[in-house]
Amino acid sequence: MLAYKNTIAIIPAGGSGKRMKADIPKQFLELRGVPIIIRTIDKLHKSKMFSKIIIPTHFEWIYFIKENLESRGIDIPVFFVPNGKERQDSIYNALISPYCASADYVLIHDAVRPKLSVDLIKRVVKEVHFYNAVIPVIPAKDTIKIVDKNGFVFKTLDRERLRIVQTPQAFSYIDLRKAYEQVMKLDKVFTDDSAIAEHCGISVKTIEGEERNIKITTPEDME
Ligand code: C5P
Repeated sequence: MLAYKNTIAIIPAGGSGKRMKADIPKQFLELRGVPIIIRTIDKLHKSKMFSKIIIPTHFEWIYFIKENLESRGIDIPVFFVPNGKERQDSIYNALISPYCASADYVLIHDAVRPKLSVDLIKRVVKEVHFYNAVIPVIPAKDTIKIVDKNGFVFKTLDRERLRIVQTPQAFSYIDLRKAYEQVMKLDKVFTDDSAIAEHCGISVKTIEGEERNIKITTPEDME
């Protein structure tokens, strides 16, 4: 049987959610009576894979999260770090915090993806013990093109090889921290953690993701 090493979860929740056009950041909106971020934390808690959860977020939302977890009996240890300007700044704050000191692996999952299954969380954690860097992906259903700045098609990509990338993504803590330390010196914004790993030469294994694991971004996604 596989003896799992210490895995810490990081849930970035420091975005402002401009595309949602709501008064509050989308991760704190309620979905059928339960805030999105609380649904997400509950899934990670139920997987029993993590010693603790670190949440980079706006300080004014800390009490809201704590209170909601307590009233719902979700008792996994949760620690907060400040959010940053970009998603990668928020994650970096978690990676360099003392809360990560004992981590062998870190799993990073967007607060705004509450629909993932516990099975997916377990598969990602299991596979990171073998591959050191693991991401869930689903096949691209649509044809995807690169266009130029005037809106003309530049190139059509080979759909057979295209994948849509999701979170949770898991990594060896030391490797990811080193990769982040390297890229934080650059003037470059990365949209996910695996792009940072990739940039630093870490080989990233893909596993099967889930159609239901959508990222809630716009009001249509809430429907
Ligand atoms: O903006 P995007 O949809 O890529 O955000 C994905 C996740 O990253 C969200 O959960 C959001 O709250 C978080 N985020 C963050 N800090 C930022 C921007 C986004 O923690 N500065």
